[in-house]
Amino acid sequence: MAEDLHIGRGSKEEQYLSLIPQIKGLLSGEPDLVANLANIAAALKEQFDFFWVGFYLVKEEELVLGPFQGPVACTRIRRGRGVCGTSWSQGNTIIVPDVEKFPGHIACSSISKSEIVVPIFKNNEVWGVLDVDSDQYNSFDETDTQFLQEIVALIP
Ligand code: SME
Repeated sequence: MAEDLHIGRGSKEEQYLSLIPQIKGLLSGEPDLVANLANIAAALKEQFDFFWVGFYLVKEEELVLGPFQGPVACTRIRRGRGVCGTSWSQGNTIIVPDVEKFPGHIACSSISKSEIVVPIFKNNEVWGVLDVDSDQYNSFDETDTQFLQEIVALIP
């Protein structure tokens, strides 16, 4: 497909509905993990202008920074630490409406105000997480959970 994104307009749901077929197109026929994660991060950043969008990958009992869009970030997160490490250990999506109220939140940037972390599974094991940060409070809800889970399930 052409490598330019059509930016959907309308409600958050409409924007995800416009984005998901385009992400499918970007992933189609491409087996390389880094290339696919990089394009998913870029597509989400371009559509929603989130402050930070990226992946952390499980490597030897730690999460290690993977492809992302946004300012430089922490490179390693231990299991059970921060929002990302907690999402990994619990195997759940975590929405944080106000990062200052999440005990143990790891502040890679003081600009980040709310966050969602979605675990990514293969054979019932978490192999990475998708982390999205916003510079506004209360940016994420069930719509983001639903569609971001759908997006990470597309990763081949
Ligand atoms: N806030 C995350 C760390 C990653 S950065 O936000 C990019 C956490 O608490 O796990």
